[in-house]
Amino acid sequence: MTEKAVEHFRKLIEEQLARVERMKSDSGFVDYAALDKLVIGVCGGDGIGPVISREAARVLEYLLADEVAAGKVEFRYIEGLTIENRIACGKPIPDDVMARLKECHVILKGPTTTPQAGDGMPNIESANVAMRKALDLFANVRPVKIPEQGVDWTFFRENTEGSYVLGSKGVNVSEDLAFDFTVTTKQGSTRIARLAYEFARANGKPRVSLIQKANVIKTTDGNFLRDCRAVAAEYPEIITDEWYIDITTAKLLDEKRRRDFSVFVLPNLYGDIVTDEAAELQGGVGTAGSANIGTRYAMFEAIHGSAPRMVAEGRDIYADPCSMLRAAVMLLNHVGRNGKAALLERALDICMIEEKRLTITGRSDGATCSAFGDYVMETVEKLK
Ligand code: IPM
Ligand code: MG
Repeated sequence: MTEKAVEHFRKLIEEQLARVERMKSDSGFVDYAALDKLVIGVCGGDGIGPVISREAARVLEYLLADEVAAGKVEFRYIEGLTIENRIACGKPIPDDVMARLKECHVILKGPTTTPQAGDGMPNIESANVAMRKALDLFANVRPVKIPEQGVDWTFFRENTEGSYVLGSKGVNVSEDLAFDFTVTTKQGSTRIARLAYEFARANGKPRVSLIQKANVIKTTDGNFLRDCRAVAAEYPEIITDEWYIDITTAKLLDEKRRRDFSVFVLPNLYGDIVTDEAAELQGGVGTAGSANIGTRYAMFEAIHGSAPRMVAEGRDIYADPCSMLRAAVMLLNHVGRNGKAALLERALDICMIEEKRLTITGRSDGATCSAFGDYVMETVEKLK
């Protein structure tokens, strides 16, 4: 019993040491400006995913129409990342889908359904988590804004380590005793902190907050904090502060204090939880986009799930594409199309916050997903 668990742990250590070596030999970020052609993959996912990702892609195709016509940008629609296919092949991402994803530079991905222990589906790893790992998308960047309250936050959630990296590889030692694992590497903590501080410097952000629970989770969170501090020392013009995750969740609700936060760096699980809280404060998880950034690939998605109930009730045409449209803004910025990103962002602020001529309710008393997409494109036209 014990031997089997120890053997399992040994394999995990070897895999993680190999990952550290891969991180050490990473050759740096793709230069999108130097590409002859940028390939954007669009992957529908499950539930409302196909509807909302198709809509966001339609808006992107409209914004990039001149570059598509000139052969500088290509959209590729990748089918097959569905829960049915994943169950059929017993893998979080079918091989053919993975091969096609790897032919793209950036990916726009709809939400995918994640089987949960005990729900009757096979214990397949989340497609999100698998994609983040396979494409080494180490930074999960999630902006949240509440302009009228002066809130302007950007979360840099570590995306390939923490309690997620071995989330499907825990061990039941016996019927009574189970272990899961949390992994932190110097390379992993350093690269997420570096990206956050570079972002803060480039965008004039005053403060970076290092979020952890190093008083209790002493080894992995302790190292995370140590390695982030080492990066912080290279950015003396930026204020660095340190917060435990529990008090962070409270302070985000404190209207007098929360506007002081700016950029956050967090291990994976804390980042997962806190970004849902932050998105809810902004107006709901349906309003927030998410970027998953690596040096070779990047993937852009909603922060919410696939809402299978909406499809079961025939309401998917009323699904809200705003989170995917926010993700599209991040995609455009990431590939250096900053003018177009600004245009789309401005149009979204008008459609979602200021003018709100159409409202999405998720039901037939609200606008459809495609009517909202039209509204956004009409608004862009007026802004041009
Ligand atoms: C997210 C989601 C995913 C996560 C799920 C779907 C696996 O909650 O992107 O935040 O936990 O990372
Ligand atoms: Mg989440």
